[in-house]
Amino acid sequence: MNIIITGASRGIGYELTKIFLAGEANHVIALSRNTVKLKRLAEESSGMIARNSRLDVLGFDLLNDDYRKVLIPFLTDRLGTVDILINNAGYLVNKDFEQLTDDDFDRIFNTNVKSVFKLTKELLPLFSGAAHIVNISSMGGVQGSAKFKGLSLYSASKGALNVLTECLAEELKEKNISVNALALGAVQTEMLAEAFPGYQAPLKPDKMAEFIMDFALNGHRFFNGKILPVSVSTP
Ligand SMILES: NC(=O)c1ccc[n+]([C@@H]2O[C@H](COP(=O)([O-])OP(=O)(O)OC[C@H]3O[C@@H](n4cnc5c(N)ncnc54)[C@H](OP(=O)(O)O)[C@@H]3O)[C@@H](O)[C@H]2O)c1
Repeated sequence: MNIIITGASRGIGYELTKIFLAGEANHVIALSRNTVKLKRLAEESSGMIARNSRLDVLGFDLLNDDYRKVLIPFLTDRLGTVDILINNAGYLVNKDFEQLTDDDFDRIFNTNVKSVFKLTKELLPLFSGAAHIVNISSMGGVQGSAKFKGLSLYSASKGALNVLTECLAEELKEKNISVNALALGAVQTEMLAEAFPGYQAPLKPDKMAEFIMDFALNGHRFFNGKILPVSVSTP
């Protein structure tokens, strides 16, 4: 399988990259801005890469770097076709509504929604016959779910991602590309610890990564255009 994982320098994306590499014949491209952490990921994974599997990392800023001049040539050269795209990179701000700024709005929506739009669009010629796009969303973006103070823009951005997922699934079904979103509950990552110091989530990122990998490999045979809550708690 040829797999692209965004947001691989830490948290869920980091664990997801490792777990895919432990499976046979998986070629993973891991993207994020922090090249030092990507190098650490490559070093840490090197001893556990399964037969015929391979990792390539690229320091790439989904908001500011050039998709056509940098990313697409890299992917075309290393990967050729794409079977699985996991749009995992995300940005969370925990701030009361009155304190939120225009810059917060732009960074949250650009990371959580616009980068998914841009990356998916640029990758369209590279997707293979039965490709699966998995968007990593949040319970906060699910209509009717419990909402939390401080997360208005983050949750709204994930709500937008959910609707984008539904619409993309409809538009891409003729190309045999499936698109689903996993609306995660709390996972104990640096993002969560920075936003909610002291809170203990019920799940560790490696466990969530196991589920996401399984879903990315198999879920498109059962789901398309679906927003699936993945949570053992509220949120
Ligand atoms: N943890 C939770 O409780 C939870 C709950 C629900 C949903 N989620 C979602 O799950 C996903 C992963 O969350 P996490 O907790 O693992 O977050 P995390 O630890 O903050 O990791 C986020 C990743 O996104 C990358 N990233 C952010 N902005 C980027 C940009 N402009 N260009 C490229 N990469 C960028 C970061 O790498 P660099 O800084 O190196 O670029 C990092 O690797 C996110 O979409 C998040 O919203 C998490």
